[in-house]
Amino acid sequence: MTVFDFKSLDSQAKVIIGRYEEPRAAMLPLLWLVQERAGFIPPEGEAWVSQKLGVAISHVREVVSFYTMFRTKPAGKHHLQLCMSLPCLLKGSGGVLAQLTERLGIGAGETTLDGKVTLSTVECLCACESAPMAQVNERYVGPLDAKSLPEVFRHLLEEPHTPARFDEYSSFHVSTGGPVLSKRFKNAEGTWFDAYAADGGYEAARKALTSMTPAQVTEEISRSNLRGLGGAGFPTGKKWGFIPKASSKPVFLVVNADEGEPGTFKDRYLLERDPHALLEGMIIAAYAIGSHKAYVYIRGEYFRPAARFAKAVEEAYARGWLGKKIQGTGFDLEVVIHRGAGAYICGEETALLSSLEGGKGYPKLKPPFPAISGLFKCPTIVNNVETLSCVPPIIRQGAAWFAGLGTAKQGGSRLFSLSGHAARPGLYEAPVTVTLRDLIMNQAGGVRQGRKLKAVIPGGISAKVLTADEIDVAMDFDSLAERGTMAGSAGVIVMDETTCMVEALASAARFFADESCGQCSPCREGTGWILKVMNRIRRGEGRDGDLEALLSAASRMEGKTICVFADAAAWPVVSYITKFRSEFEHHVKTGTCDLKREPSHAHADH
Ligand code: FES
Repeated sequence: MTVFDFKSLDSQAKVIIGRYEEPRAAMLPLLWLVQERAGFIPPEGEAWVSQKLGVAISHVREVVSFYTMFRTKPAGKHHLQLCMSLPCLLKGSGGVLAQLTERLGIGAGETTLDGKVTLSTVECLCACESAPMAQVNERYVGPLDAKSLPEVFRHLLEEPHTPARFDEYSSFHVSTGGPVLSKRFKNAEGTWFDAYAADGGYEAARKALTSMTPAQVTEEISRSNLRGLGGAGFPTGKKWGFIPKASSKPVFLVVNADEGEPGTFKDRYLLERDPHALLEGMIIAAYAIGSHKAYVYIRGEYFRPAARFAKAVEEAYARGWLGKKIQGTGFDLEVVIHRGAGAYICGEETALLSSLEGGKGYPKLKPPFPAISGLFKCPTIVNNVETLSCVPPIIRQGAAWFAGLGTAKQGGSRLFSLSGHAARPGLYEAPVTVTLRDLIMNQAGGVRQGRKLKAVIPGGISAKVLTADEIDVAMDFDSLAERGTMAGSAGVIVMDETTCMVEALASAARFFADESCGQCSPCREGTGWILKVMNRIRRGEGRDGDLEALLSAASRMEGKTICVFADAAAWPVVSYITKFRSEFEHHVKTGTCDLKREPSHAHADH
């Protein structure tokens, strides 16, 4: 048995720990370091981390077990992780899993005898435009279809064989030239400092730092009607205004780049293709709230986006836009990139802070809100990537211009992620006043192969489903709330007439059961019960009273937990059953599904 000596990592550990206000916050980066060195996290790796951070080994073990990307045993040389969340399922990931299982001779969670390939199933990789998607080690691969699968098998099974263009996705739409966010998306390789500066980049930061007070910047953002685009929709300027004016504690800016809502992939593009826009937004936001330290929490699966963003950070330091006395103004800002390790709940802002402090991603009770007591119990603003990327154009072109693009209560445009059965899945920038019908029927080319639309989820998998005749609604937060659903992360999942709503809800149920942090019993038990009953109905073993049991479980979850995860798990149950009741009743009564569906819809338990 191999015995690992991690002492050689001591000097690297010292540098990493030095980036944080409290040593234990370096927990996730040190665990990543161990996993990179050993291929997994062995007990001696946990012991080394425990000793470096001065925390109990039981705490390290607890953290390791919480995050899905940390392994406690070695994986095969190639670790293929196939996405099974709804948009990928709609595009045939069930069929792909069957092909992988047959060709590799292993099931999900197993490794081939020669140790070459480990096969796993995972939840959304946030590349749903290219579904069915997978990740092979650190690289995204998709869509996995008849064209690409032979190449993938060659890569996995033949040595040596590295496909030349493994990271490339194809045949989907990427918005370019949009009014606010996608102007520079044309270049798939990213917009780097010189090109960004040549396009007016960093002029807004210069303007804010040299000719505006922090209060004036906050006021301008308030007047622009910018809302939190991670999903909550809270007015950004108002949030910034909650930071106490005379705090003796340091103030932190935390960027939420833990994109994970199934059906959403916008932040990935911003990090990869226009990272300086986010950095400039961060500089302006930090100046407005009086922060000199910003943490960027990037989801663990985003290896390439994180690498590209890190390159932009290096450029910004080299050009004097980060560090001490930015551009000679006297304003300092340090930026630390912090990687997640596979936990959807860390997208919730207090869970993200728990994770960033070196613990499990457990949400915290509010109040106190992070603006008063957040990271390390200091005043903290958590903003989403897209929200901050809107800030430079607002300061450059004015609040009135941005507000004028939207409604009376929400300014600007948004990046809409379209997936599922849209004829042209992809990322679309449009003013928030765009209707769901326009987005699907005109911009995304309607439903694939001229089929009929059956249902749409307008704002990521947590949003309540809409029927085909409910899509004449604007996509701003308030219009969708009035329609009884939500804009959320603007992940639009299109379902055509071949979609079985029982399968769709079962997929959502599995996601929520997998991702519940387990802290509150209504959520932990409720998501488990819902999944159990949904699987029973899906298998054709539904019982009288099952639909009432599902609705009852949902009603016992909503509003009864620390965070809104349980509410988000309950909403699809209620909306699917209410709007497609006869389809659910038919499944329970007959044990069959009458839809003529494609074999690719095959569902897999995992
Ligand atoms: Fe598979 Fe998002 S990448 S559902």
